[in-house]
Amino acid sequence: MARPKIALIGAGQIGGTLAHLAAMKELGDVVLFDIAEGTPQGKALDLAESGPVAGFDAALKGTQDYADIAGADVCIVTAGVPRKPGMSRDDLLGINLKVMKSVGEGIKAHAPDAFVICITNPLDAMVWALQQFSGLPANKVCGMAGVLDSARFRHFLSLEFNVSMRDVTAFVLGGHGDTMVPLTRYSTVAGIPLPDLVDMGWTTAEKLEAIVQRTRDGGAEIVKYLGNGSAFYAPATSAIEMAEAYLKDQKRLLPCAAYVDGAFGLEGFYVGVPTIIGENGIEKVVDIKLSKDEQAMFDKSVDAVKGLVAACKEIDPSLA
Ligand code: APR
Repeated sequence: MARPKIALIGAGQIGGTLAHLAAMKELGDVVLFDIAEGTPQGKALDLAESGPVAGFDAALKGTQDYADIAGADVCIVTAGVPRKPGMSRDDLLGINLKVMKSVGEGIKAHAPDAFVICITNPLDAMVWALQQFSGLPANKVCGMAGVLDSARFRHFLSLEFNVSMRDVTAFVLGGHGDTMVPLTRYSTVAGIPLPDLVDMGWTTAEKLEAIVQRTRDGGAEIVKYLGNGSAFYAPATSAIEMAEAYLKDQKRLLPCAAYVDGAFGLEGFYVGVPTIIGENGIEKVVDIKLSKDEQAMFDKSVDAVKGLVAACKEIDPSLA
């Protein structure tokens, strides 16, 4: 049986890391597409040359031609520009919306059966635009944010409790921005919910609130350190988890930016929610019960995304 084909649209920091991870995990053959001439070719060759040492079987190719993504099973989109210090994800909207148009058309023409994972920011608005421009079914187009935001939350919690990150589960919903909603009630250490850990004296409500805020600011913290780009290792690892769930029909329950129609009181809207990812893409949106406070935070986050979607429609009336 032929190996799956993974197309990476954007061969920058995240794209290169995605290619490395996909090859090391032998998820399939990798095509790196980028408008920057030489970049995808150079990265593909460099990675291929690591193969004999690392011991993976995967073909890697760099290209400027969308025809090379033909028949891709998965497309992961990072094309666009990342943040610089002081910029919010929303500041990227105008530039990256144009990029989504060309990428959407490329996928529509050459890889219409792919499962598409968008990483480009501002995430929730970009994944919506990508679905519109590509015309692919909504269950086959999603965005990576919740896995990353939850991973950041899990990491900070593991430091606070001094336990293995493996034993910390966490849920972050809503838009991938300042209004994201880390759900403490649904986050646990080996099944013990965070509020119970406060009662047990393992931490305090104040410390937990500080961790929640650090999670919300997690992307900006990295941008500030790097000075000339944004995070790439954790975003790439998170998207690979989603791609693997699809390719191996794992039925993973992962938070991601998905098209929600009916759940959470939303009608036809892309935002971060719990989903099940399997061979049919986003197979289900899991409509968990939110408390009054959680719902209020979620609604605020949805409103922020609605503002970005409205801004997209103003920039490109074909989206209206
Ligand atoms: N088509 C294909 N590739 C493009 C296009 C386009 N129209 N426009 C830009 N690119 C490429 C750039 O040439 C660059 O190689 O996208 C790549 C982006 O890579 P980086 O600048 O290294 O950015 P990266 O850190 O990978 O982040 C990409 O993900 O997390 C988000 O906010 C981040 O939107 C940003 C995206």
